[in-house]
Amino acid sequence: AEIIVARDKAAAGEIVADHIAELVRSNPETVLGVATGSTPLPVYEALGARADAGLDFSQVRAYALDEYVGLPVEHPESYRSVITKEFVERVGADPSRVHVPDGSLDRIETAGERYESLLAESGGVDLQILGIGTTGHIGFNEPGSSFGSLTRVKTLTEQTRIDNARFFDSLDQVPIHCVTQGLGTILRARHLVLLAFGAGKAEALAASVEGPVSSSMPGSAIQLHQHVTVVVDEEAAARLE
Ligand code: F6R
Repeated sequence: AEIIVARDKAAAGEIVADHIAELVRSNPETVLGVATGSTPLPVYEALGARADAGLDFSQVRAYALDEYVGLPVEHPESYRSVITKEFVERVGADPSRVHVPDGSLDRIETAGERYESLLAESGGVDLQILGIGTTGHIGFNEPGSSFGSLTRVKTLTEQTRIDNARFFDSLDQVPIHCVTQGLGTILRARHLVLLAFGAGKAEALAASVEGPVSSSMPGSAIQLHQHVTVVVDEEAAARLE
């Protein structure tokens, strides 16, 4: 993987946004893989500035990595809501071209295969933005996930629920299940861009980039991909050799 240690989050956001802007200029219908959580926010902010300066995102297609199961889509912390607020509204994307897995309980049995069909229709993700969990998850593929896995329902680990409780009023409000792209789904994207900021990510990042390729460290799946860029700050890079 190519590893870029940026001065800070904002600089990292600019680096990734520059790359995405280039893709969008050369192909207005670029397919972006978008992540939620805190990590990609500097990228979306930097993309918003480029949109304000005239870059046209109206034809761009985007696919989110994951969604909570059983949280109403209108809930402010549903990943549909988060992607709408943090990405779609900032860059002026067309909501009908932006897809998020369907976490509604009444159709959950088919959520994985329906999302895989949508992804297949897209012709494939050109650039996938990834964050990493302290457990080493990418998407919500917690340790033990198969490298061949496709979009499916998974159970969040207790640690991930604790990590994400900051977005909710209390831990018991954090959903227990999610629908997530599998590691196999993620590995099909043409370019993976993994971002990590802060000391809390240093261990999982080093294990993913340099450790053994093992399903006990889902992030290590990136070592199976030919085109990976890792963009981190000094703190997250601290454990790299
Ligand atoms: C988000 C996702 C997760 C997060 C990870 C890091 O769609 O799939 O893998 O990227 O949990 O979360 P933050 O960025 O909030 O530290």
